[in-house]
Amino acid sequence: MRLRERKIVVTGGPTREWLDPVRFISNPSSGKMGVALADESLRRARETVFIHGPIDASLVSNKKYRVVPVETTEDMLKAVKSEIEEGAVVVMAAAPADFTPAEKSAQKIKKTGMRISIEFARTPDILKELSGMRHDGLIRNLFTVGFAAETDNLDSYALGKLADKNLDMICLNDVSRRGAGFGADTNIITIFMKDGSRLELPMMSKRDAAARIFDEIENRLPRYLA
Ligand code: CTP
Repeated sequence: MRLRERKIVVTGGPTREWLDPVRFISNPSSGKMGVALADESLRRARETVFIHGPIDASLVSNKKYRVVPVETTEDMLKAVKSEIEEGAVVVMAAAPADFTPAEKSAQKIKKTGMRISIEFARTPDILKELSGMRHDGLIRNLFTVGFAAETDNLDSYALGKLADKNLDMICLNDVSRRGAGFGADTNIITIFMKDGSRLELPMMSKRDAAARIFDEIENRLPRYLA
């Protein structure tokens, strides 16, 4: 089953976790890498869906693929679960918030003291949930691609995530380098595959990086899937 016959689910952007009606925690992910991947997917797949957190609306206007906006990590998990199908490729370029306030205040929190402590709870790990579904036989022939935005211990953190989240492929992005940080139009990616191979790409536009990533996915699919 080649890419042309498959559905591709791409995620991008941050997610947002509210503390009270006027405040949230999030991260600076722009969603540009996700959009570049979804654009490339449109050229290669049977069907493309782009699930994204809060990003600049102009990035997804007039797209020829389906766009699903979500807000929280929990919402993104639900959307991903409802979009996947047998043989789908899931490319998780989103930066979902890992923590959410343990209690959300219905009223605006007032600044009564000089300090405030907020307790956070973990949000679901979307890729780990998919790994669990694969393990339990709930979904077959899924091919999962993760991203690792790191500042240090690059290879070991990326390889740790590849194993921990049971991925087929992970794209490491050294966000401390110029031309690779959040919001940039370029990226510097190293691709690690499940079989141990490693491909270092030079700095290039996110659009070109997306094409190289899909070249690798396309090359690898027959080896892993029936
Ligand atoms: N990811 C996910 N669900 C989350 C957080 C992250 O599926 N709740 C995915 C991201 O989309 C990315 C990969 O996991 O493809 C790695 O994300 P990253 O933030 O680098 O890693 P974390 O697992 O969150 O670990 P840490 O923040 O400790 O580095």
